[in-house]
Amino acid sequence: MTSLRYSAIAAVVLAFCYPWWLKDLLLVKFGIRRLGEPIENFPYKCRNLKHGQLEGCGDMWLDERTRVLYAACAGIQGREEWNPSLSRFNASGRRPSRSELTAIYIDEPRKDGLFKMHRIQQTRYESGPGDGDLDLAGFDVEIVDLSTIRFWLINQRPPYDSDGKLLDASKVGANTTIEVYDYKNREKMMTYTATGKSSALHSPNKIAWMGGNSFVVSNDRSAKVGWRKKLDPLLGGGSLVYHDDWSNSYKTTPKRIPIPGNMVRGQDDRIYVPSLIDDKIRIFQLEQSGSFKQVHVIKMGMPIAGLSTDSMGIIWAVGRSKVDLVGGSSFSSVFKIEKIEEEWIKYKVDKVLEDKEAKFVRGATVVRHDAKTERIFIGGAFMPFITVCDLRK
Ligand SMILES: *[C@@H]1O[C@H](CO)[C@@H](O)[C@H](O)[C@H]1NC(C)=O
Ligand SMILES: *[C@@H]1O[C@H](CO)[C@@H](O)[C@H](O)[C@H]1NC(C)=O
Repeated sequence: MTSLRYSAIAAVVLAFCYPWWLKDLLLVKFGIRRLGEPIENFPYKCRNLKHGQLEGCGDMWLDERTRVLYAACAGIQGREEWNPSLSRFNASGRRPSRSELTAIYIDEPRKDGLFKMHRIQQTRYESGPGDGDLDLAGFDVEIVDLSTIRFWLINQRPPYDSDGKLLDASKVGANTTIEVYDYKNREKMMTYTATGKSSALHSPNKIAWMGGNSFVVSNDRSAKVGWRKKLDPLLGGGSLVYHDDWSNSYKTTPKRIPIPGNMVRGQDDRIYVPSLIDDKIRIFQLEQSGSFKQVHVIKMGMPIAGLSTDSMGIIWAVGRSKVDLVGGSSFSSVFKIEKIEEEWIKYKVDKVLEDKEAKFVRGATVVRHDAKTERIFIGGAFMPFITVCDLRK
């Protein structure tokens, strides 16, 4: 333990001695010299959707076919009290209505400027100790058929003992599981299907479905609790876990990714992992053996909180002007990333929006692009609304 601690300190000291690291530190971490542009410089007209149900929507998924945006929201206050990634373990501080999925019908505007929307209730998940509520972080969606989708949800449950007594999460951490639910288009209720659990899933923040019952989960920290977790922002510690359907096994990469944000599976089946600490999007490819190999890196010039794809296969990214784990003291930028060459893996990155004065967006963790209307939707775990931006034509 002690020698580990010393090597950690040595690593920190060494890191500070290297000029390239220093440059990275100043430019990327503290956002030095990043002036940013006002939102008026971009061809978008934005507005905020203000509604109690649309607070703290850390992840969203857009069904471009059926014209529904699904948002996983927990309220800001609730996310501040119960947030396993940030080691906030006050389970009784969660929002009384807990977190929930909301269906937003993006082609059905209402007179008040919002859209037609409703919460999606759930049938109770697998028996097991606990309150049976969902504590949603990231999620992914599998399209089952024309009228059915399947939600793959990260559920950051508080820990309970077998008698149903709440345990001290600051000591044992959260009991995060994967909950799978089937949902029929436009219904008010989703139906429980399965739970995934493993000790490899120690701090999941996002999931990507990979076909069948295979999926990838990112752990954004090195451990549930403890001193090493506190050093994650300096030393890295995030990892990818692959669940293989055939062998029903979980395989983890080394804990080297510096605090991953919302990763995504690209149309090329590669996994794109952004970082809240450095400016790299690490691109991983699944090998036959079930391990991930890093095949490429895109340098973005700023930390990236979330990635998504649209129906054209274009990757959308939302970044922060500096390292800012909650997102309250930086401004947000939105990028479009297009693959221009497959063989040599080459990408073209364009900044499409920036909000230097944080007039509309601050602390975003997810952006979704509607290829049909060219509209973008922006949400965040600590954002008090969802932002909608329309392209001015
Ligand atoms: C937990 O949250 C509740 C509700 O916000 C609050 O009353 C309580 O003081 C919090 N407890 C701790 C230990 O912070
Ligand atoms: C975590 O959840 C699993 C799945 O329901 C359950 O079997 C287990 O008892 C839970 N453990 C804790 C510590 O809450």
